[in-house]
Amino acid sequence: MALAKLTSVLLLAAPATASYAFYVGKSLTADGSVMVGGTGEEVSSHWLQLFPARDHGPNETIQVGVTDSATIPGKLIHIPQVPHTLRYLSMEYSDYEGFPAPLTNGGLNEKGVAVRDVFADNREDLVKMTPTPQTGVQYSDLARIVMERAHSAREGVKIIGDLIHKFNYATYGGNSHLIADKDEGWIVWEFAGGRRLWAAQRLNDSEVRVLYPGYIEDFPVDFENSDDFMGSPNLVSFAIDQAGGAPTADATARDGGYKYMSQAALENATMAMVPVTEKDLMERVRDPRIADDNAGYGQVVSLHQKQEDPDLLRIWIAPTGSVAAPFVPWHLGVESIPPEFGEHRYLTAGSSSTFLNPDYELQEASEFAGRLFKRVLYYMCSAPRTLHPIVTDMLKGFEAESQAEVSGWVEKAAATLLQQGQRDLSRNLLTYYSHSRAAKALELGNTMTAALDGYIKLSGSWRNPAGSQINGGDDDITVTCLVRIDPDKPAYEQGLSSPTS
Ligand SMILES: *[C@@H]1O[C@H](CO)[C@@H](O)[C@H](O)[C@H]1NC(C)=O
Ligand SMILES: *[C@@H]1O[C@H](CO)[C@@H](O)[C@H](O)[C@H]1NC(C)=O
Ligand SMILES: *[C@@H]1O[C@H](CO)[C@@H](O)[C@H](O)[C@H]1NC(C)=O
Repeated sequence: MALAKLTSVLLLAAPATASYAFYVGKSLTADGSVMVGGTGEEVSSHWLQLFPARDHGPNETIQVGVTDSATIPGKLIHIPQVPHTLRYLSMEYSDYEGFPAPLTNGGLNEKGVAVRDVFADNREDLVKMTPTPQTGVQYSDLARIVMERAHSAREGVKIIGDLIHKFNYATYGGNSHLIADKDEGWIVWEFAGGRRLWAAQRLNDSEVRVLYPGYIEDFPVDFENSDDFMGSPNLVSFAIDQAGGAPTADATARDGGYKYMSQAALENATMAMVPVTEKDLMERVRDPRIADDNAGYGQVVSLHQKQEDPDLLRIWIAPTGSVAAPFVPWHLGVESIPPEFGEHRYLTAGSSSTFLNPDYELQEASEFAGRLFKRVLYYMCSAPRTLHPIVTDMLKGFEAESQAEVSGWVEKAAATLLQQGQRDLSRNLLTYYSHSRAAKALELGNTMTAALDGYIKLSGSWRNPAGSQINGGDDDITVTCLVRIDPDKPAYEQGLSSPTS
């Protein structure tokens, strides 16, 4: 029996950006792995960071929550750290809705648990119910703690539930997390209001799910008897109270996409690719119908059935929106991230009001991958019909090379070294490979920007800005190539020039 539509009780419309998450069940993929893809839609700079496993003292704590600069002001609190945190890779960022930096939407940990955070609607009255100052764990804390602690997707859900139960949830209006491992996925929906409300649904082998924003449709009243649902103990009573009885309104969750394509249309487009490969999921994540300047990075990961050494877990990451940036393969066994893919001041909160911390002198002196590929995006989208196909071919060619090397020799060589007990050498090899590929990506970016700059100027296509404000306003117009075109027609028949609105 369903609690009618969870969405009709706890849902409302909201902001312009959400971040995408894609889940593909293991019976729909070419190699039987669960696959996860996504973006992070934050204005802020994004950078790749490796967090090694660490041991912690008995009384260590971590700071969680939001400060009084958040859109719904709050107070930071300290909660207990666990004795050991796991190794993980994450795209970090510095700013969202006044939340304290650094922030994360997730990534991949050494137990093969992948996490994505996605905005999820909440009803206005729930948001208004949120006490101020609010305290509790917020979306980025939850994503990070799951990567630090979870050995499986199901455990990740329980960790979120326990944290919200103990410490409450701090929010800018509601979020969801997609958590996946080699067997299954889970969507966890956290609600505003300070009522410790959350709900979670399991995603099975034969499902595709796209979150933009996150959603759960039917939710059973007797969810506690089901292996496929979890939630806070007060969820059902709260929903029934608020709706004045069992609600029955139609849910429109799957049709609620904020960009041209709804979640349902993107799910169908992914289904049409079955059996899905990593290359296919990259194509979905960088789909020019949904990808624009909002996307701070792209990620694709396969969670394989066969139990592999944690060092060989691999995630593909584009250093900014993948419509204009290549996915680079990173194994959990890498020992470092090149400075060019680390934190820089371009788009970093506070950089226009402070001088550089001298400690970062050399890092800031290095080229920044995120900035380089933003330039490719802006050149490309100035004439998308001509330039988007060319850039896409180059990015795909680069990724095909990486894919062939990764499966051709990199992982076999690293696995052989591991079998011989040579973990250090295996890590050296993986580090050398990812650093080389990252350097090649920068070389590609420089070649592309030079060629695009020359072509645009020499073909008479250069335009100076007509106005005087370099910063965009709140009117939701961003640089896009082909966002909002009709998904049923071939992209290039529609003759859009940017920006579309
Ligand atoms: C941890 O805190 C307890 C209670 O305050 C204290 O008795 C104990 O000595 C602390 N342990 C360490 C290692 O600091
Ligand atoms: C998987 O979930 C979908 C959506 O809830 C459902 O329609 C389908 O029957 C499920 N498949 C299996 C094998 O459980
Ligand atoms: C998705 O596919 C289903 C099943 O084929 C279809 O009923 C539905 O209309 C499609 N939705 C969209 C938005 O394309």
